[in-house]
Amino acid sequence: MSLQPLSKGTSEAPRKSVFSLLKDRTFHDLLSIIKKYKWYYVSAVGSQLLLTAAALLFADTSRRLFNMAPNVPRGSLANILLVFACIAVFQLVFTFINNWIRSALNESVVYEMRRNILGHLQRLPLSFHEHNHSSNSVNIMHNELEIAKNFIVFDVQRLIALPISFIFVGIYLLSVHPMLGLIAIAIGPLQMLSSLVLKTKFKQAAELQNRVTRDVFFTIGETLHGIREVKSNQMENNVDSRMAEIQQRGVAYNVLLTNISTIRSIVKDLPGHLGYIAGIGIGAALMAAGEIGAGGLVAFITLLDKVAEPFTVLVDTINNLQRSVSGARRLYEVMDMAEEDTMTGQSLAPGAPSVSFDEVAFQYVEGTATLQNLSFSIPAGSSLALVGPSGAGKSTIVKLLYRFYDPEQGTVTLNGKPLESYAIHSVRERMALVSQDIFLFDGTVAQNIEVGRPGATRDEIIRAAKLAQAYDFIEALPRGIDSEIGERGIKLSHGQKQRLSIARAILRDASLLILDEPTSALDVETEASFQRDLGEWASNCTKIIIAHRLSTIREADFIVFIDQGEVVESGTAEQLLSRNGRFRSYWEKQSGGMYAEIT
Ligand SMILES: Nc1ncnc2c1ncn2[C@@H]1O[C@H](COP(=O)(O)OP(=O)(O)O)[C@@H](O)[C@H]1O
Ligand SMILES: [Mg+2]
Repeated sequence: MSLQPLSKGTSEAPRKSVFSLLKDRTFHDLLSIIKKYKWYYVSAVGSQLLLTAAALLFADTSRRLFNMAPNVPRGSLANILLVFACIAVFQLVFTFINNWIRSALNESVVYEMRRNILGHLQRLPLSFHEHNHSSNSVNIMHNELEIAKNFIVFDVQRLIALPISFIFVGIYLLSVHPMLGLIAIAIGPLQMLSSLVLKTKFKQAAELQNRVTRDVFFTIGETLHGIREVKSNQMENNVDSRMAEIQQRGVAYNVLLTNISTIRSIVKDLPGHLGYIAGIGIGAALMAAGEIGAGGLVAFITLLDKVAEPFTVLVDTINNLQRSVSGARRLYEVMDMAEEDTMTGQSLAPGAPSVSFDEVAFQYVEGTATLQNLSFSIPAGSSLALVGPSGAGKSTIVKLLYRFYDPEQGTVTLNGKPLESYAIHSVRERMALVSQDIFLFDGTVAQNIEVGRPGATRDEIIRAAKLAQAYDFIEALPRGIDSEIGERGIKLSHGQKQRLSIARAILRDASLLILDEPTSALDVETEASFQRDLGEWASNCTKIIIAHRLSTIREADFIVFIDQGEVVESGTAEQLLSRNGRFRSYWEKQSGGMYAEIT
């Protein structure tokens, strides 16, 4: 039942050889994105090749010019200058077009992937999110996606365009002189070989560096997320020493990585320098022997980089490919997880449903029963109070009703039919929950209430706010119901947030209402009027009320007392109090023995 947490980083993902990548599923998934944008690639590769053609034309025109030097006829000079001017304009235009296509491709791919992933994350079962830290998912959506994207956007087109350039430029140089052509061509493979120098060290350093980046993300995320805890527990220094430790590692690994990269790039440039010197030397000898003109040497110098480039890029691309695929693999590890199917099944009829739990057992973790042998039932339209110590399993019962989890044993039924026979969507549609965890979205008060039923009118929103005892404080806000709530509702008190979430639930107009400690942050007076109004707006609902306050509990038609996932006692308040059992002692502890309060 429980999903495995995601693997956390590049280090844990096995690297594959380039050839086995060809059979890799993730690699094919990446290719399918590429296929979708194939016209971008065709244009990008096309403009790249046209730029190579321009470079060739430039080199060849230079060759002709220098072969005529120093006695260049006037007419030829004018023509040659015109050709150079045209090439310059052509290069400007196509460089512009190339960048344009690339940025369009880049953004399209990134946003499409992000949209897909977030859409998918929302449709994953709640258990996934309960087992994975949100900054892990954010890391995947940001860093891993960035790595995968670099491959998709940049490397793929280079992989196609550069070998073609190589062939044309190589053939051209061979035609200038076979010797010069061979020297130019030899540089590339030598550079490829030189990339083996310090390769493992480089990977290790890059890995350490990645880990630092992940730690930074994690620490920042946790600190900002738990800023209240951080402040109230005065954890600032802990956070700071953690960041200092990360900083130390960050600097050390970055310097290491930079040094290794520098050495590698020096070694990598070596064949190019040697080729240049050898080319000039041999070229000069060939010129002296009359085998080539000065122009041949100029063409060689101009095009030297163009021949070597495909090989060096190939090496980089292969390295990127491995990183991209392992980054993408974590994306697809998540993408492959089964989404909730919310649409299959019968729909729940309107009107208050009857609810029953029959011998239900459930566990989050193997071997630790959270609910066991749990049975109770609620007739349609009546209310049930779930009472019990914290950790008893009350909120878990709510999760089962929402089908965030399914029971291991036993059945939950609505209107006498198993919960699984209904489409999840139709059940959730008829349910409203006021939970102890309140989440307010960034937006106005009105928008936050409207979450309960998107499209509700302003009057309906105001009515709900009034019933939730929220309207008085809303009116006192600077812009009333249109006031902005800070990120996560930070500008409101807990009680005020709770009232907004009650308003949300009221607006929802549900037939199964679940209140999970809904009034814990309300004062006694507000709570009393909330109770009174509940009878009005929720009169047509079946209600499950999880509460500690006895004033709330005693309003319920039935009480079920739960401890350690089992029903210990059940009945009406009067029955339970006269029984002298767990409920009675729980109640006496709370009221300091004055249980007359209830009668
Ligand atoms: N997502 C989860 N994963 C693992 N254990 C959980 C999870 N949620 C709750 N629990 C455990 O299940 C037990 C019941 O929790 P809960 O239903 O929230 O209790 P209550 O609402 O009665 O206070 C507790 O021991 C709690 O630690
Ligand atoms: Mg709870």
